[in-house]
Amino acid sequence: MFQRIPVLAVGSVSVFLFLVILRLINEVSFLKLLSCFGQTNAQCAPAPVTWRHRSLTYHDGYINIKTHEPLQLDCGLCAIVSNSGQMIGRRAGRHIDRSSCVWRMNNAPTKGYTEDVGSRTSIRVVSHTSVPLLLKDPDYFFRESNRTIYVIWGPFRNMRQDGKGIVYNMLRRTVENYNSANVYITTETRMNYCDSVFKKETGRDRWR
Ligand SMILES: *[C@@H]1O[C@H](CO)[C@@H](O)[C@H](O)[C@H]1NC(C)=O
Repeated sequence: MFQRIPVLAVGSVSVFLFLVILRLINEVSFLKLLSCFGQTNAQCAPAPVTWRHRSLTYHDGYINIKTHEPLQLDCGLCAIVSNSGQMIGRRAGRHIDRSSCVWRMNNAPTKGYTEDVGSRTSIRVVSHTSVPLLLKDPDYFFRESNRTIYVIWGPFRNMRQDGKGIVYNMLRRTVENYNSANVYITTETRMNYCDSVFKKETGRDRWR
């Protein structure tokens, strides 16, 4: 199955995470990717051609915690790799690593599983609740993996920048200690937008 379709290795990851990530890419590819869920046939089309002609794109819903610059990101064909045990035994690692961008979730490991999940990580999308897990091994995540972009999302109460945001404060300290770390957070506007999408699609309030 991995010969014909974009690598889309998806397991039990929350719908919300996917919304954040896929909205980052763009609407067209969002639909394309969605059409691949649970399918193994040719409907799961390769990346739209338009992707390959796009120049460097800014995503201003995501800002660098240190420089406050928006996220610059250009992906052609993405591999979105789940942190589910379903990945074990898939032997998709080489295929995943050939993608122009490899997305991973939270603290999903690659070490010891590269044959199944690959070794590159372009972007790691991390929930506020998983930040402490990354901080258990900061040398690995923020020094050795210094080419990885970290996008951290969470509710305003944890992400606020006035000294009262507990997760924001942890991230601030991290970028002070690890100069080469690329850490981005979602803006409040972007988070509100993602919350509204989540509510529309699931009927549930994200933070209740
Ligand atoms: C960046 O990562 C590479 C590869 O892991 C490592 O050799 C290098 O020392 C890191 N640079 C910094 C500034 O931490």
